[in-house]
Amino acid sequence: MSTGTMKKSHSQWSSRMGFMLAAAGSAVGLGNIWKFPYMAGEMGGSAFVLTYLLFMFVIGLPILVLEWLIGRRGQKNPIHTMEDVAISEGRSKSWHWVGIIGVVGSFLILSFYSVIGGWATDYIVLSAQGTFEGAHGEVTGQIFDNFLGNVNHLLTWHTVFMFATASIVAMGVGAGLERACKIMMPGLGVLLLVLVGYAAYVSGPSFGKAFSFLFTPDWSAINGTAMLAALGHAFFSLSLGMGIMMAYGSYLGKDVNLLSTARTVVILDVIVAMLSGMAIFPLVFANGLQPGEGPGLIFVTLPIAFGNMAGGTVLGVLFFIFLTFAALTSSISLLEPTVELLEEKTPLGRKSATILSSLVIWALGIACLLAFNEWADVKLFGKNIFDLLDYLTSKIMLPLTGLGTVVFGAWMMNQKRIREELNLNDFWFSVWSVLTRYIVPVAVIIILIYGFL
Ligand code: TRP
Repeated sequence: MSTGTMKKSHSQWSSRMGFMLAAAGSAVGLGNIWKFPYMAGEMGGSAFVLTYLLFMFVIGLPILVLEWLIGRRGQKNPIHTMEDVAISEGRSKSWHWVGIIGVVGSFLILSFYSVIGGWATDYIVLSAQGTFEGAHGEVTGQIFDNFLGNVNHLLTWHTVFMFATASIVAMGVGAGLERACKIMMPGLGVLLLVLVGYAAYVSGPSFGKAFSFLFTPDWSAINGTAMLAALGHAFFSLSLGMGIMMAYGSYLGKDVNLLSTARTVVILDVIVAMLSGMAIFPLVFANGLQPGEGPGLIFVTLPIAFGNMAGGTVLGVLFFIFLTFAALTSSISLLEPTVELLEEKTPLGRKSATILSSLVIWALGIACLLAFNEWADVKLFGKNIFDLLDYLTSKIMLPLTGLGTVVFGAWMMNQKRIREELNLNDFWFSVWSVLTRYIVPVAVIIILIYGFL
C-alpha cells in the first residue's frame, strides 16, 4: 500500500480485501440481525423498512465515503483527525467536537452491545444443550423470560463477550481476525438463506404476510418517529457517526477506491438485514407471536426454527456462533477509537489502554443488563437504562455527528481535491455536490426536528 504518511504505530490492512472485510465486519453485526427486525416490528414494518433502505443509500453511503476520506487524510484517532484536517483546510479546530461526541458515543454503544453480544454467545450453549428441541412460540418465549431474569447468568455472558472483545483489540488490528472474517461472514449469509428457505417452507401464507409486512408500502404509517428511527438505524447499521469508520480510514491505503468500496459495504449490510427480516417475520406470524415483541424478538423466534427443523440443533449452534462472531467484529470496532485515543494521548500502552476502557464499559454494561430485570422500573425520561442509552446514541448522537461530518466534508473541505480523490466526472461530481451540500444535511436536520416534535 502507498501510505507514505502513515504513522509507525499503525498497522496496515493486508489488502483492499482485508479492509473491506474489516469495514463490512464492523457494519454487519447485531444491528442487522437483532436490532433491525425488532425495530421494524415495533415501528409497524414497511414504512420503517423502506425509509431505512432509502436512507442507507442516499444518506449513509455519502457519509461513509466522507468518514473514510477524512480518516485517511488525518491518520489519527477521530478527535485529532478532525482537528488536523480542519486546521489543514484552514478551519476552526473546534470541529474536533465531531470526533469527541463520536468517541463518547462508541463507548456508550458498546456497553449495551456487549450485553446483547452476551445473549448471542449464551444462545450457542443453550442450542447445543438441545434446549429448543421441539419448542414452539410459547416455550421459546418462556425460556427467554427466564433467561432475562437470571442476573448472574447475563452478567457471566456479558463478561465473556467483553473479555473476548478486549482480547482481540489488545492484540492489535488482527490478521487472524481478517482471515476468520472470510469464513464466518459467508457462513452467516448461507445460514440466513437456509433460514429464509425454511421459513418459506413451513410457514405457508405467513411468508407472504411477512413479505408484505416488510415491503408493501404503507405511507400512512410514516411519521417523524419512524423516520428518525430509520435514520438512526441507518447510521447504526453502517457504524457511522462514531468516528469508527474514520478510525478505520486512518489505516486505509491511497489506492483504495472509496466509492466502490462503500457501495459494496452498504449493499452487503442491507442484504443481511433483509435476509434476517425474511427469516424472522414468517415465523412470527406463523406462530402467533407479536412483531412488536422488542429486543428479544430473534431470541424468541429463531429457536422455534432450530427446534423443529431437521438438523436444527447443529444449525442453531452454528448460527449463534456466526452471530457472536459478527457481533465481535463490530464490538472490536466500537472499542478501537477509545483505545486508539488513549494510546496516542496518554502514556498508556495498547494493552493497558484496552484494559482500562473495557473495564469502564463493562461496568456501564452491568447497568444496562439490570434494566432487563432488577432495575426494570428505574426510569429516566420514561426510559430504562438500556432504552435510554440506545435512544441517546442512535437518535441523537449518531445523527448529530453524521450531520457534522457531512457539513464538514461538503462545506469546509476543498471540493476539488475531494473530486480528484473520488475520481468523479462532471456529472457524478454534481450529483455528489448536491447530495452532500444540500440534500443530506437538510434531510438530517428536518428529520431531527420532526422526530422530536
Ligand atoms: N454496525 C454495527 C451493527 O450493525 C454496530 C456498530 C459497530 C456501530 N460500530 C458502530 C454502531 C459504530 C454505531 C456506530 O451491529
